[in-house]
Amino acid sequence: MRRPWVGGNWKMNGLRADHEALLAGLQPLAQMTAVDLAVVPPAPYLAEISAQLAGSSLRVLAQTVSGHAAGAYTGEWSAAMLQDCGVAGALVGHSERRQYQHEGDAVVAAQFRALREAGLQPVLCVGETLAEREAGETLAVVSRQLLAVLESQGPEAFDHAVLAYEPVWAIGTGLTATPEQAQAVHASLRAVVAVFDASRAEALRIAYGGSVKAANAAGLFAMPDIDGALVGGASLDANEFLAICAAAQARVTG
Ligand code: PGA
Repeated sequence: MRRPWVGGNWKMNGLRADHEALLAGLQPLAQMTAVDLAVVPPAPYLAEISAQLAGSSLRVLAQTVSGHAAGAYTGEWSAAMLQDCGVAGALVGHSERRQYQHEGDAVVAAQFRALREAGLQPVLCVGETLAEREAGETLAVVSRQLLAVLESQGPEAFDHAVLAYEPVWAIGTGLTATPEQAQAVHASLRAVVAVFDASRAEALRIAYGGSVKAANAAGLFAMPDIDGALVGGASLDANEFLAICAAAQARVTG
């Protein structure tokens, strides 16, 4: 059984007082030792939240990172800077970055590589738009997004990484993929990795993201290839996030 992974992507929400209240409400997470847990705060707060959570089981991830090592890239930050600030890793390829910052597969692969080189954990997000799903292109799109990293960096690049399947049409819309829809894509993603390395494919955690909440988490986690969740909106509510993490823990402990 793969160890579940749950991340709370706060996106561009909350000020310091909101984050403090949220983290205070998340203290029961310390008891959930069967799950890998992460929060993904907005960039200006990463260093202080990392310092605050040092020594706890809750890891801190950034929402993005530059693929460049250093230099004249105003507004960006490097993987080494994240590492220096106590941050454990970063999301790469989130659909909002792909859409609004026009980050394509090559940029995402460079970000993934930069994180690995700094010893940090990449969480690679892949997912199709509604138009792509309706055109029957779901597997082609998510495979292309995955292969951009897999072909250039090899299956070993995923040893400490998490893959997150986030259908764009399900993000922030309240339209969750059904457990069966998500399972089908997760199994296909695992099969893509298995072409390169069957045992690494078996070990890879594939989290689902897209309107995950307390009410639908257990149904998703009941699927054999859904190893956790990347949670947006519901991660801003401590009780919702706790319930989702408890459902992930129950996947292991029964
Ligand atoms: P959502 O966001 O849970 O609000 O749909 C998920 C994400 O974008 O990671």
